[in-house]
Amino acid sequence: MTRHFRTLFDLSSAELRSLLARSAELRALRGTPAHPKPLLGKSVAVLFDKASTRTRISFEVGVFELGGHPLIISAKDTQLGRGEPLEDTAKMLSRYCHAVVWRTFGQVRIDTLAASATIPVVNALTDEHHPCQLLADLLAVRDTFGDDFAALRVAWVGDGNNMANSWIHAAARLGFELVLACPEGYDPLAATLDEARALGARVSIVRTPEEAMRGADVVTTDVWASMGQEAEAKAREVAFAGFQVTAARMALAKPEAIFLHCLPAHRGEEVEAAVIDGPWSRVFDEAENRLHTQKALLEFLVPA
Ligand code: CP
Ligand code: NVA
Repeated sequence: MTRHFRTLFDLSSAELRSLLARSAELRALRGTPAHPKPLLGKSVAVLFDKASTRTRISFEVGVFELGGHPLIISAKDTQLGRGEPLEDTAKMLSRYCHAVVWRTFGQVRIDTLAASATIPVVNALTDEHHPCQLLADLLAVRDTFGDDFAALRVAWVGDGNNMANSWIHAAARLGFELVLACPEGYDPLAATLDEARALGARVSIVRTPEEAMRGADVVTTDVWASMGQEAEAKAREVAFAGFQVTAARMALAKPEAIFLHCLPAHRGEEVEAAVIDGPWSRVFDEAENRLHTQKALLEFLVPA
């Protein structure tokens, strides 16, 4: 059976934990002769419908380091951009490549591609989820606090966006407490909350950053207007006023708390420079982790 990574829920709790452990191993092996090359002779298509810096570079470098050949493709330069059916695209890519990584708009597009693909499909961000980023974030959390995730409290501050939805999936898989502070009207997907709570996830929504951040081990946020929401940026600035992660608010978190942000960040909007550039911040370790975790993911998904 072809395994996909459409959302974080495509991994079981045990698989997620072992993938994080393997990511740390691959990080230690990087640049040594013992580093594995499971993609030798294999090609991975990495397609983008939206802009990217980290995802593009980390997949290109990661596939190369696993011995494979990355094809980095802007979807608008392909027939996909001219409306070729996703089903046909999936079948054709499955004849050439050994995995396909795709950053696109609606989650339904990833699900449709995966339904017709006989190679693994990896979600490199949709409007609804960003599971690859969560792997990197969770490795940063594990590096700081160890793997007893259930002992931790995570505060999400801001938009109930793709990152927030993927954090909710992570809470369901790893058992930590997740408190999301979102302005009214900007909650995460109700269906995601429901599916996570049905699995016993400890997830709650509050209306002030203070309530979420008090006693938190991890504080995380993201942009107020995601890709595709540019026209709403002004209205969102108004709605999210009061939801900035500031140094004063970080004082409410545990003294050893860390700050995460998937990047790109807007200093002075969702986060104060003193926080993202301050002692709490792990954002560049987090960005580096994209490389290690995606290598572990491809090693796991692509059959030998
Ligand atoms: N965090 C993240 O996905 O960054 P890019 O948009 O640069 O890929
Ligand atoms: N929520 C952001 C994440 C960017 C990596 C977006 O979708 O634009």
